[in-house]
This record gives sequence, C-alpha cells and structure tokens, in this order.
Amino acid sequence: MEPEIILETVDVAKSFGGLAANAGISIKVPARTLRTVIGPNGAGKTTLFNLISGIYKPTAGRILFRGEDITGLPPHRIARKGIGRSFQITNLFPELTVLENVRLAAQARGRHSWHLWRSAEALREYAEKAEEALRTVGLLHRARALARELAHGEKRKLEIAILLATDPVVMLLDEPTAGMSREEVPGIIEVIERIKAQRSRTILMVEHKMDIVLGISDAITVLAQGEVIAEGTPAEIVANEAVQAAYLGTTHGYTLAGSRGRQGADPGREAPDIPAAQVRS
Ligand SMILES: Nc1ncnc2c1ncn2[C@@H]1O[C@H](COP(=O)(O)OP(=O)(O)O)[C@@H](O)[C@H]1O
Ligand SMILES: [Mg+2]
Repeated sequence: MEPEIILETVDVAKSFGGLAANAGISIKVPARTLRTVIGPNGAGKTTLFNLISGIYKPTAGRILFRGEDITGLPPHRIARKGIGRSFQITNLFPELTVLENVRLAAQARGRHSWHLWRSAEALREYAEKAEEALRTVGLLHRARALARELAHGEKRKLEIAILLATDPVVMLLDEPTAGMSREEVPGIIEVIERIKAQRSRTILMVEHKMDIVLGISDAITVLAQGEVIAEGTPAEIVANEAVQAAYLGTTHGYTLAGSRGRQGADPGREAPDIPAAQVRS
C-alpha cells in the first residue's frame, strides 16, 4: 500500500527581489514520518517553512495538505487545518503557570465557542489535553510553576507542549535545538523522538546537528541555493556526493559523520547554531 502523502510542495518558488530563496522545490512527506530538511546557511530552509505555514505566499508552485491545495492561505487558516509551527519563547505568558500556558493554546484551538469555555466539561477537556502535552514533553512535574521560572531548555519544551496542545497533524520545527546548551540538547531530542514514536503526527524539521539528524530522521531532504539537491534515508544522504560537495563548499566546516569527505575537519564538530529568533531568557 502506498503511504499517505500528508504534505506536498510542487515546484514551490519564492523570490526576494532578484534572489530565488526557493527555486522550485518539490517534496512529498508521508504521513507519520519525520523528515529533516538540511542544507547550508541561506539554502532556503526557513523560507520553505514560511511558505508551508503561509507566512509567505509562493511566487510560483503549489502546496498540498492531504491533497488539498492550501497555497496562499493565510497562516491562521493553515494552522487551523493542522499544520503547526512551534512558537517562540517570546509568545509565552511569563506570569501564568506552565499548565495555563498550554491550556490556553488548547482552548484557542478548541471546538467550543467562547461562551462554552467556562463550562466545566470544556475546561476539563482542555486541561486534560494540556496535561497530556506536558506529559509528552516531560514537563508535567512543572505544571504549577510560572512560565518565567523555567530554565531555558524547559521553556523550549513548553513551546513544543503549546504546539502539541493545538493537536497539529504536521509539526514544523525550525532548528529546535538552536541556542541550547550542550546539556539541554538531548532532552529536546528525546521529546521529538517521543512524539515520533506516538506515530500520530508528521514532523518536518530543520536541524543542523548532523549526529541528531542522522539518528532521528526517516528521510532527509537536502537544499542548496533554493533547490533540492538530494533526498533519501540517512544512509543514502551520507553516501551522496552532491551533498558532500554542497557541505564542503561552505565555510561551516562540518561534515556528515561517517562520510568520506571528512579529512581535515574535526569529525566531532557541530554546525554553528543560528538562532531562529530572538530568545528571551
Ligand atoms: N524576508 C526576506 N527578505 C529578503 N531575503 C530573504 C528573506 N528571507 C530569506 N531571505 C533570503 O533568502 C535566502 C534563504 O534564506 P533562508 O530561507 O532563511 O535560509 P536558511 O533557513 O536555509 O538558512 C537567503 O539568502 C536569505 O537572505
Ligand atoms: Mg533558517
């Protein structure tokens, strides 16, 4: 049986002035898989995510969600259809508890109209959804803490819980480990692995740390200069010479673990993190 393609881009393009940030990108993401998009800085990864989530309108091409054309829909409509992206820490309510932050997200996406929010049944349903999300990210024990009291790594988990509470079919995670300390990274990866293991959602992720990418991805799409230059399983990507060339042609100095292009570079070195957004502590 063919796997269901939950998300598809067809020759999607986006130019800024004369620059083709995305120059015709076609990808097909099967449901309930984890796809990572990698590529050098400026390759167009974030632009692709912004097109999928409706923040930008493509200059050409189509985006299909469950076979439905969603090209050009505004972000809130796309989110409501089930494509969610993680919120930045700046979206947290610092003086509310962890549980309240997540419950508000569940409520905002809830099926009850505003006057039913106060009904006991609706509130219980949202609280349960919030608790389930907190359990998934390993923050249930912090439910009563104020959001501002959380450590940085915990805040990133809270962001993911907020996203989970909106019950997304497809989760877009743009550099979920960016700006994290080395000690905090495994915790977030564990959360992503747990969500993947639940097999109820599709994850589309941008990540630079190649050891993580190779370990966690079902499939990898490699972008360079706005185009897909390779696609395949982690093993296929490691063996791909075009990928080697694209990476070694940059100044990052990071290589694919286990690859032949390693000479000269420190194999343990990770790509530098590029903070996806201003992060407030
Ligand atoms: N809003 C924008 N205005 C102008 N240029 C942009 C904008 N967003 C991205 N770009 C450019 O598009 C290219 C791809 O950027 P981006 O998608 O952020 O790459 P990546 O996430 O792979 O590092 C870069 O050259 C970047 O400078
Ligand atoms: Mg980016």
